[in-house]
Amino acid sequence: MSTNAELKLDGKTYSLPVVEGTEQERAIDVTTLRNQTGHITLDDGYANTGSCYSKITFIDGERGILRYRGIPIEELAEKSTFIEVAYLLIQGRLPNRAELRNFSELLTRNQLLHEDLKFHFEGFPSNAHPMAILSSMINAASCFYPELLLDPKTQFEIEAARLISQVRTIAAFSYRKSRGLPIIYPKPAYKYTANFLHMMFSDPYQDYELNPEAVRALDLIFLLHADHEQNCSTATVRMVASSRANVFASAAAGVCALWGPLHGGANQAVLEMLDQIHREGDDGSKFIQAAKDKQSGKRLMGFGHRVYKNYDPRAKIIKRACDDLLGKLHRGDPLLDIAKHLEQAVLSDAYFVERKLYPNVDFYSGIIMRAIGIPVEMFTVMFAIGRMPGWIANYREVMEDPHSRIYRPRQIYTGDGLRHYVPLEERP
Ligand code: ACO
Repeated sequence: MSTNAELKLDGKTYSLPVVEGTEQERAIDVTTLRNQTGHITLDDGYANTGSCYSKITFIDGERGILRYRGIPIEELAEKSTFIEVAYLLIQGRLPNRAELRNFSELLTRNQLLHEDLKFHFEGFPSNAHPMAILSSMINAASCFYPELLLDPKTQFEIEAARLISQVRTIAAFSYRKSRGLPIIYPKPAYKYTANFLHMMFSDPYQDYELNPEAVRALDLIFLLHADHEQNCSTATVRMVASSRANVFASAAAGVCALWGPLHGGANQAVLEMLDQIHREGDDGSKFIQAAKDKQSGKRLMGFGHRVYKNYDPRAKIIKRACDDLLGKLHRGDPLLDIAKHLEQAVLSDAYFVERKLYPNVDFYSGIIMRAIGIPVEMFTVMFAIGRMPGWIANYREVMEDPHSRIYRPRQIYTGDGLRHYVPLEERP
């Protein structure tokens, strides 16, 4: 098998090395292309561009495979927890009992926000989107721990624990603030996801009654979102990290990238779409027609993926969990019926089949969150809480790579050629 690719250009032949990953994905290394040929590669949307080597997550989009540090997502979903997976992603291996306990305790010790940080919540209008609050507050949190930023190498474990633990506290506080409700502090005795629900829904005079099925379902959502290789937000985190910005700033940038409806914002958009279909009394057929019409500006939210050209393995797990939870809560949801109908219709529709558009992770997750009582505007925040360990693991990989350089893509300029400044009085 050749280990070089040959490029013929302007009558010359250039040799470019072919590199191979552990799962036999192959890439043409173009690092020397510009020096050799004066040309750059052009890949709008980076669909064919490998931006890094990474040991964290493997995806085979054609076969519908997702593995964190080599372990299939199906096994982790069945046997693990979000916090154990966070450790796995960041440290590269599953923790033993003592390591897991220590990690858990570190998270608990770092779950409280600096008291002064609370006042920052006052500056946001009550209708501010929680993703705006989340990114601002994560960035602001870094100001309260300057000692971490001075020595990020030795303090990394604490920085990571602060981020994982506090993203959840900030999220719950922002929800309480948006509803004019008093802030509820975390309880050290509760585990990660139970504590989040406690901070969201307890009252100062009465604790929220935790339902173990709901806790498990939300923990699963966090776990399934924990990493997904070089998606838009993770690539953003790596981009910011490559400039040697601190981990809080890098994660805050990740939150901003995640917010968009084509990425993490899709889970909110799915629920809004299902709700609209329900209110209009449609079974989804009209919406499917509109989604196929490019002029309509509509897309079937929760369908399609840049990498998966097969069923998103997370969507399969979430769909099962959704049926399971609603069954255990003895609750039906007309939006779940619409979602199932949409899925059936779309999977046999030529437009979607030809384009290999399958349900993605966001298609059913919103129905679970709705059943738990999480308001729709908080859905993308749930995704951010889940994705935090993945962002941190990717941040670490950039920082610990001795060959890491600042990310700085090039472009093909298509603007005006040289022209000269015209003084204001001479302009038409
Ligand atoms: N509904 C209708 N048509 C679609 C959809 C959709 N959801 N997704 C893609 N298409 C069509 C496109 O119009 C295009 O058609 P064409 O070839 O006739 O022009 C073709 O399928 C390919 O689509 P692209 O936009 O080129 O695919 P890309 O890889 O750039 O985008 C994306 C992937 C953003 C996920 C897209 O499928 C989409 O917008 N989906 C809906 C939003 C969504 O669910 N996002 C969540 C993604 S998962 C995540 O971030 C966790």
